[in-house]
Amino acid sequence: MLSTTIIDGKETSRKTLQSLAEDIEQLKRQGHTPGLAVVLVGEDPASRVYVNSKVKACEELGIYSQKWTLPTETTQEDLVKLIRQLNADERIHGILVQSPPPRHIDEQAVILNIDPRKDVDGFHPVNVAKLVLEDPTGFVPCTPLGCMELLRSYGISPQGKHAVVIGRSMIVGKPMAHLLMSRQANATVTIAHSRTADLPALCRTADILVAAVGRPGLVTADFIKPGAVVLDVGINRVEDPTRPRGYRIVGDVDYGSVQPLCSAITPVPGGVGPMTIAMLMSNTVKACKLACGM
Ligand code: GUN
Repeated sequence: MLSTTIIDGKETSRKTLQSLAEDIEQLKRQGHTPGLAVVLVGEDPASRVYVNSKVKACEELGIYSQKWTLPTETTQEDLVKLIRQLNADERIHGILVQSPPPRHIDEQAVILNIDPRKDVDGFHPVNVAKLVLEDPTGFVPCTPLGCMELLRSYGISPQGKHAVVIGRSMIVGKPMAHLLMSRQANATVTIAHSRTADLPALCRTADILVAAVGRPGLVTADFIKPGAVVLDVGINRVEDPTRPRGYRIVGDVDYGSVQPLCSAITPVPGGVGPMTIAMLMSNTVKACKLACGM
């Protein structure tokens, strides 16, 4: 029976934040305080929680932050006006518009208005291109960056491994695939999605399996090559009347059946999730350093 490493995202995030705190101290001594603006449009309860935890992380680290909570009926024009104001604000090095916005907002058009140098989410086409070009001055989306940091932190090298990424989103699947195939990581990468034929058989060829589709429990034991490393990016609310809130959070992986087969796995919660915020802080510090010519 193989023993499974449970990848502790909370602890890894704590260490990352600790090392960032030292960077921030040093920046402040030189007269620079990193600043992040977080914009939430509408009432989505999950988005509200994420936005609050991002602002709280800034406060704990000594990053200057602005939280903009705009009503659901905010127009595209007013949102873009705010973005332009933040682009011009020298205290702000990073701008994040929480996704998904209400339906009448054209998210891509909003992203195009963010100064790419302040796009700490890595969603602007300039930063997408820099990721593909492996240009280190770009910003990489926080969740896949957090996954790579977990692998690095646990000494798991993707080199020569077959990595299968389930999901082709711009936030996770696509950037994750690029990071894994980069000249830093050197994995061989397959991207799977909703139309992939015989997904379980494909996933059984994965040494590293990344699940990023938002389907609770999609990945079951029959997807797993024994000894594989499994990164579960899913954050799904499922009804649970035994919980005070009436729901609990589960990943895309059926943890109970999969965990005993893997060499390492991220739990949900406490795996990839905490790393996303740590990487947002890291990108904000990077944006500040670049703005100061460092
Ligand atoms: N919604 C879910 N993940 C993210 C993220 O990384 N950034 C933003 N802005 N919105 C999100």
